[in-house]
Amino acid sequence: MLRTEVRYEVINVLDVEKIREDFPILKRKVNGRRLVYLDNAATTQKPRQVVAAIVKFYFKYNANVHRGFHTLSQEASQAYEEAHEVLAKFINAYSWEEVIDVSNTTDGLNLVAWGWGLDNLKPGDEILVTVMDHHSNMLPWRAVAEKTGAKVRYLSVTGEGTLNYEELERIISERTKVVAFPMASNVVGTINDVRRIARLAHSVGAIAVGDGAQYVPHVPTNIRELELDFIAFSGHKMLGPTGTGVLWGRKDILESMKPFRVGGDTIKDVTLDSVVWHDLPWRFVAGTPNIAGMIGLAEAAKYLMRLGMENVREHDVILVSETLKRFRDLEDEIVVLGPKDPNMRTGLVAFNVKGLHHHTVGKALDLFGIAVRTGGHCAHPLHYRLGFNGSVRASYYIYNTLEEVEVFVEALKLIISLKERLAKEPVEEVCTGT
Ligand code: ALA
Repeated sequence: MLRTEVRYEVINVLDVEKIREDFPILKRKVNGRRLVYLDNAATTQKPRQVVAAIVKFYFKYNANVHRGFHTLSQEASQAYEEAHEVLAKFINAYSWEEVIDVSNTTDGLNLVAWGWGLDNLKPGDEILVTVMDHHSNMLPWRAVAEKTGAKVRYLSVTGEGTLNYEELERIISERTKVVAFPMASNVVGTINDVRRIARLAHSVGAIAVGDGAQYVPHVPTNIRELELDFIAFSGHKMLGPTGTGVLWGRKDILESMKPFRVGGDTIKDVTLDSVVWHDLPWRFVAGTPNIAGMIGLAEAAKYLMRLGMENVREHDVILVSETLKRFRDLEDEIVVLGPKDPNMRTGLVAFNVKGLHHHTVGKALDLFGIAVRTGGHCAHPLHYRLGFNGSVRASYYIYNTLEEVEVFVEALKLIISLKERLAKEPVEEVCTGT
């Protein structure tokens, strides 16, 4: 029997019932059922505390930063700068100056590709990305390769959805100048061996760039242990507002880079024929920044730090384990993408129902109030490699419960039992998701 109401189950590691109180949206109904929000890898919901911090900024001290000595501007500048400190702490950066305010992961990765790549790549050089990458990490490097004459190579992915490390050791060479890769996959969920890849990159003098979009919100991130040169991540996938993100970079490399976008706040002084660039991180933040967004993102980071990222990680493993366990009943009906071991995965499970289009499944789940993502998840080459043109993805976060996993899998069973009928329905290509 499919239960329509979600019983809140307190899972040891996180007090989920208490957490859910901070997310009013989770009380809403969709198609007459209580919302079961399983689209967190696309974007997470926002707690009251984050919204309150943004409202406080706009209602109490809204002003531009670094541009005035009046009280409001001073208060706004202080809060904006403190937000950098909080985010530095969140990833254990050496200094807040290494934290660059960007609008999302894609923006951060573009900043590295263009800001570093244009001045450091030339014909004959190689950029190594992976078939596992989502487009945000693949396309900027392809574009920069076109401009510089460097060549893009792709590290392959195994059928189980893991990177081919033996191949990496074989193809990396003195020609390799960049190794850019997903720290965790948004499709197969695999958490990659970040330090191993970073060390290999450094052994040939290449920079190591981590796409942290699906990693930083889910796995305790200590940049001092990961040995990367850059990590980009999005705020909206970790309880923060949309339009926020961080590019963390190694200070000496950031200092060697010219600003990629120039204008207000990137400079210390300008004459008609000279410019003195600002200190880090401001030299990379052109124009009025997303002040409210960064303040909100810092509040989100504080929220996660209060929960403890180890607990966030464990909660993911519990929910993914439960999903994979329940999926065993459906072994003949569905194909699960990615590793079987939940410990190798971040908090998501993508799959396909045999004989049903992924959009049909997603639309049917929505009738039960269950929100999942369907489509290529901005990672078409990976889907093609695995033999699909898309998939259905359930992705979890701190407020999801074991009960919700049950509701989701029971709904899926019902959908599968109606497969013959559903397969005849036209596939809606609206909102396909890329
Ligand atoms: N790349 C994001 C996702 O996987 C948008 O949904």
